[in-house]
Amino acid sequence: MEKAPKDLKLVPQSRPSKSMLSATVSISVCFLAYIVFSLAKDPLSSRDDAASLPPQSVLVDPASFAAMGPNAIFRNNSFDAGFNPTGTEPPFFQIFDPSFLQILGGSPSITQIASNATFAFAHEAPIYDPKMDAVTFASNDGGALGMSDINHNNRVGRINLKDLPAKLTGKPIEIPVTELNLPDTVQMTNGGTGPFRGDLLLITSGRGNLPPSIVLVDPVSLNTTVLLNNFFGRQFNSLNDIKIHPSGKIFFTDTVYGWLNHFRPLPLMPNQVYRLDPDTRAVRVVATDFDKCNGIAFTGDGKTAYVTDTGSTSGFLGNNSTEPATIYAYDVDPKSQAFNNRRIFAFADSGVPDGVQVDTNGNVYAGCGDGVQVWNSDGLLIGKFFLGTVSANMAFAGPGRLIILAETKIFLAEIAASPSLFTS
Ligand SMILES: *[C@@H]1O[C@H](CO)[C@@H](O)[C@H](O)[C@H]1NC(C)=O
Ligand SMILES: *[C@@H]1O[C@H](CO)[C@@H](O)[C@H](O)[C@H]1NC(C)=O
Ligand SMILES: *[C@@H]1O[C@H](CO)[C@@H](O)[C@H](O)[C@H]1NC(C)=O
Ligand SMILES: *[C@@H]1O[C@H](CO)[C@@H](O)[C@H](O)[C@H]1NC(C)=O
Ligand SMILES: *[C@@H]1O[C@H](CO)[C@@H](O)[C@H](O)[C@H]1NC(C)=O
Repeated sequence: MEKAPKDLKLVPQSRPSKSMLSATVSISVCFLAYIVFSLAKDPLSSRDDAASLPPQSVLVDPASFAAMGPNAIFRNNSFDAGFNPTGTEPPFFQIFDPSFLQILGGSPSITQIASNATFAFAHEAPIYDPKMDAVTFASNDGGALGMSDINHNNRVGRINLKDLPAKLTGKPIEIPVTELNLPDTVQMTNGGTGPFRGDLLLITSGRGNLPPSIVLVDPVSLNTTVLLNNFFGRQFNSLNDIKIHPSGKIFFTDTVYGWLNHFRPLPLMPNQVYRLDPDTRAVRVVATDFDKCNGIAFTGDGKTAYVTDTGSTSGFLGNNSTEPATIYAYDVDPKSQAFNNRRIFAFADSGVPDGVQVDTNGNVYAGCGDGVQVWNSDGLLIGKFFLGTVSANMAFAGPGRLIILAETKIFLAEIAASPSLFTS
């Protein structure tokens, strides 16, 4: 489907995407005017600097579209292909603030490295294992092209990054995907992190009456141990995502997508965030009051937690862009580790912010409706890994490499940023 990307600099492309055609025309006029204006006046956008934008990147100054013209066509919902005023062919780096250049470095690339048009094999649970130099991930559970439902489990796959060629150029390639044969205790894997004490840490949504669970999987033997599958005898709704706090405690989210995707019974618990002590196995709630809590991440110092709320996506009940597509920030209580002082961190303009990761400089990455969006620690949107399609999650594969899951595709971005923690 996609063509090899072009090295687009400041100039808007002449081949806009179909869905944004008219919007692109009108916005591009403003944008062109902006460029001409800023080239003359703004030293930051001088001809030399424009020429030195890294490959596969486009600068979209917020001032270039803040006031759209009288004939502009506005977006009516957040579940379209995204905001692409330059009509650039994805994948590319969309820069809203010059600080995004520090994340990209001087010679970034973004390349599709695996695909399957008929199977959403790369949905969630990206885990990089540095020992194997491999990334494990799960297929879509219960949703479009997931090939899984109340009668069929989803699948866990792996790519070996040793299969990558020496140089990635943005031109799509295909590396092999291997399916892992996990035991039946692992049902509808929807999240993952680690390695944790050498093992992959998976979180599953359960299927039918088979309970949602947290499991440890040996990355080589695939030997599996169930750590948790209930809250004092009650099943969770459908567990979603998981992270390890720097203290070594495990935090995870529970929400209703198993029921909304027709593979779990009616929810019997609030949608909440929990903490599990992996040694005592004591479990408790640390945050509540969500529409649908989903992704979770911590800053490297463990003092701040981010939780996404994907309330505007509701499975068989449809999408409703008046409901949350929101990232909240919290203070992690130094003693109890309860999440306190909830505040708005960001609202995504496209789709919902799903899985979330933090880099060494405190920038926050979230899988959204148009790819991966990046905010600085103050909550300013500084740039996007623009795919024009949904990404549910991503993970650093060591310093300078970001693996992006996009349902039927996997992308690898080679950049300058590094993950905040050893675990993804
Ligand atoms: C949004 O809705 C308005 C009013 O119905 C319509 O004129 C416009 O074309 C729509 N925009 C897009 C991008 O479809
Ligand atoms: C896509 O996935 C399906 C289901 O596993 C498989 O049958 C098919 O061969 C795959 N197609 C490609 C091109 O790999
Ligand atoms: C798998 O785990 C069980 C018990 O936890 C252990 O007895 C067995 O040796 C393990 N097998 C492998 C291949 O690691
Ligand atoms: C969208 O959600 C709002 C707020 O909950 C509700 O008032 C509205 O009826 C919903 N729209 C649709 C089409 O369901
Ligand atoms: C609803 O939202 C999901 C997740 O963002 C998206 O994949 C899907 O295309 C949306 N559906 C519609 C009808 O817009």
